[in-house]
Amino acid sequence: MFISFEGIDGVGKSTQADLLEAHLVGLSREVVRTLEPGGSELGRDIRKLLLHSGHVDARAEALLYAADRAHHVATVIRPALAEGKFVITDRYLDSSVAYQGAGRILGATEVRDLSMWAIQGLLPALTVLLDLDAASAVARRANTGDAPDRLEREKVEFFEAVRACYLELAAAEPERFLVVDARLTVDEIQSKIRARVDELLGR
Ligand code: TMP
Repeated sequence: MFISFEGIDGVGKSTQADLLEAHLVGLSREVVRTLEPGGSELGRDIRKLLLHSGHVDARAEALLYAADRAHHVATVIRPALAEGKFVITDRYLDSSVAYQGAGRILGATEVRDLSMWAIQGLLPALTVLLDLDAASAVARRANTGDAPDRLEREKVEFFEAVRACYLELAAAEPERFLVVDARLTVDEIQSKIRARVDELLGR
């Protein structure tokens, strides 16, 4: 089973993905936990270019995320799924549609088409969207004390546009998406995610 986590920066995706991984491992499932950008060796170089360089043109940015994704799917995700493993990824194509399509205003349809070409149609069985307003997410990030990367330095309006796009994507594909309010406690969020995963597993 292929599961992705989505949401604007600072909503707690990695924490929830870690907890879901522990749950599945507890059920004796083999899990590959990965992320975008940077889920492959080539991807780690692309991640550095994307997050820690100077200005990147919006179209070049979209292509770099798509290149990372194509290589990630071909060398990490598909092989793991073929071996019957679970794959949990922190971000996938919806990040591109929301950040580049809406945040950078390149257009959701074009960016989605680019990613669909890169991934040759491999969509997750479940996409967990952790939803939070942009101002709260910015405040949470400030509390971590970590230096913001190139994307995190964007204005709050950018993240509001990204969030609105995510919610539209979720409304358009309710079977694939589970939207969870990121203001709930870590445990409350995790139990909603586990309930949906268990349902998909027929437990
Ligand atoms: P993260 O791994 O810390 O979430 O950082 C990745 C950053 O890249 C984050 O700000 C979201 C952004 N991003 C995009 O803009 N488009 C994409 O397709 C992906 C995967 C991430």
